[in-house]
Amino acid sequence: MKTFQYSGMPVVYFGEGALKTALEKELPAAGSNVLLAYGGGSIKKNGIYDEVMELLGRFGKKVTEFSGIMANPTYAKVQEGAALVRGNGVDFILAVGGGSVIDCCKIVSAQAKMDEDIWKAEFTDHVYPKEFVPLGAVTTVSGTGSEMNNGAVITNEEEKKKNGMGGAMASFAVLDPAYTLTVPMRQAVSGAFDTLSHCMETYFGKPAENNVSDEINEAVMRNVIRNLRAMIADPQDIGVRSELMWDSSMAENGILKLGKQTDFQSHMIEHQLGAYTDCNHGQGLAVIHPAVYRHLAGDNTAKFARFASAVWGISPEGKTQEELAQAGIDALAAFIREIGLPSTLTQLKQNLRPGSPDPTDRELLRKAADSTIVTPGCARALTHDEIYQILTECI
Ligand code: NZQ
Ligand code: ZN
Repeated sequence: MKTFQYSGMPVVYFGEGALKTALEKELPAAGSNVLLAYGGGSIKKNGIYDEVMELLGRFGKKVTEFSGIMANPTYAKVQEGAALVRGNGVDFILAVGGGSVIDCCKIVSAQAKMDEDIWKAEFTDHVYPKEFVPLGAVTTVSGTGSEMNNGAVITNEEEKKKNGMGGAMASFAVLDPAYTLTVPMRQAVSGAFDTLSHCMETYFGKPAENNVSDEINEAVMRNVIRNLRAMIADPQDIGVRSELMWDSSMAENGILKLGKQTDFQSHMIEHQLGAYTDCNHGQGLAVIHPAVYRHLAGDNTAKFARFASAVWGISPEGKTQEELAQAGIDALAAFIREIGLPSTLTQLKQNLRPGSPDPTDRELLRKAADSTIVTPGCARALTHDEIYQILTECI
């Protein structure tokens, strides 16, 4: 285990009816000028908006709405939110949505308190925000685990970069699994695969040898796989949604990362693929993961072999470590096909918005590869040429 410090997380209100419990407890002490942030309108269709507004009204809050936060939130949208906070004297932000809404608000919260441009501050000057407008998060689609960390993924359209940024940590998070019942199945599957990806990206980070974080991680991975299948079999099973929702938080609340340097190379590749194509995050990861792992299995064979037996239940009998490692990656690839996620960029292309750039275009892939961040926690540092090769193998 590497050395680590561990400090507080958001207060979590989990379970059916959690919103009322949470807001009745948190709103009396929260600011009186609230920025209510949400996405493209799903919360108006499923009733969550009315529920939130009723509670905000009951506690006498003045509400400024910040709507239309898109999947893969843009830096321009962050600036729009920061201007609303400043212009309306907002002193509390309530983010109601998925990773996109919560991420956008984490950076809005920081930018509103900074005079300088936060993108330049973080990526040019390497200065990170210290002051934030207080934030609460209500998760309506699970997968990213964004509600329990201070990371945010923002797309800078001008620079063609989708980057992880440091922003606010929510002071509380509301996790009501019933809210996820209205999420379209394709998104629900993609979100759950994102959770599995976060687990794998942590598990295959350094150190590779035995540690308690990896053993907990194996349990979470098995739980995601079992419940993802169960969700597809019975989309209305609230118990299954509960498991997946907490899995999502567990994968990104830092617990599985204690004592580890994480990998996240597949995420870095997906982020740049996303920057160029605006693809869905979980779908992009599904295409990339097996290809990346086929390149890296030989550099972390024992861990990939352990993944095969501990997570996929593959018997080591009669197999070399290398064969077992490959069998685990094959099982992952078969699972991706089974749950209906794309396995190739050609398949991913079918799911993009009409008019989106072509993810099978080699020139685009070259640019995406060359702008991908190479992560130090990966079993072996990839080169940009090898990332390009991986992407072309995904076509
Ligand atoms: O915009 P609305 O109309 O609300 O619709 C959303 C959106 O279209 C819909 N949705 C959300 N809740 C719903 C619902 N539809 C019906 N019923 C509900 N209850 O779901 C769609 C996707 O929402 P989005 O927030 O984009 O999904 P997700 O939570 O997967 O977030 C993806 C973003 O998070 C980033 C990704 O890169 C991507 O930008 N990530 C953030 C991370 C973090 N902060 O820790 C880690 C991840 O690795 C990830 O990179
Ligand atoms: Zn992710």
